[in-house]
Amino acid sequence: MRPDMLEALFPPGVVAVSADAAELWDAALHPGEVSTIAHAAASRQREFAVGRACARAALARLGLSAGPIPRTALRAPAWPDGATGSITHCRGYCAAAVARCETVRALGIDAERTGRVTWAILERVTTEREREVLGTMLPGDAPQDWPTLVWCAKESVLKCLAGATDRMPGPREISIELARERFTARLLSARLSGVGVAELRGRVVRHGSLVLAGVALPTANGLAAAGAVT
Ligand SMILES: CC(C)(COP(=O)(O)OP(=O)(O)OC[C@H]1O[C@@H](n2cnc3c(N)ncnc32)[C@H](O)[C@@H]1OP(=O)(O)O)[C@@H](O)C(=O)NCCC(=O)NCCS
Repeated sequence: MRPDMLEALFPPGVVAVSADAAELWDAALHPGEVSTIAHAAASRQREFAVGRACARAALARLGLSAGPIPRTALRAPAWPDGATGSITHCRGYCAAAVARCETVRALGIDAERTGRVTWAILERVTTEREREVLGTMLPGDAPQDWPTLVWCAKESVLKCLAGATDRMPGPREISIELARERFTARLLSARLSGVGVAELRGRVVRHGSLVLAGVALPTANGLAAAGAVT
């Protein structure tokens, strides 16, 4: 996927980096992160290392210092002061997106390969209303493999909301409405009232078997800087 397709998932102010370059894909664990992931399998250590290498490259592009990125109690990345972000990996792909806290309160990125999320799986994480809407969508309303697109969009929103609330919401606390490469996530649960918005707007893109979704919760500063671009 081209780098501009990745960054187009987000509003201005968000920097996203995928592990296309060999130096990121082959990145070693940062010495300050070794103890965090020491007991995991080698493959898991590797994806952890690559995700953080992408995050450090993105933070550097924001002009922020990039040391070790440990984990919070929720197992989310513990971002350096002044920054927020999100990491994702799936087979053969890894990316991170970061932003300054002045412009973005929280953000989420998710990558999935098509073909793994079936309608049966989707049924467990969607509301009845979401399934009704999906069932009425015509080919052309959205790219194919809607289950993957909806799953991916949901995961990105849940990561973003986890960053904003310090709690991972359940998948039915939000509903996703897809409109081609854009989506709206409605916050259904009273437990999300503290977020202060009724919905979030995100983007989803498919490139071959790779689906990527991104969403950001801008601050007032971020909205002003973006000129209300969505
Ligand atoms: C944690 C979760 C978001 C991981 O998603 P995934 O698609 O399996 O894997 P991804 O590679 O995209 O994301 C993993 C990364 O998410 C980040 N992450 C983990 N927990 C997180 C949290 N609570 N908040 C924000 N980010 C989190 C981490 O950076 C992790 O990578 P790392 O451990 O190497 O740092 C997912 O397992 C989850 O709990 N989802 C929400 C609940 C749900 O029911 N989802 C179903 C589909 S809607």
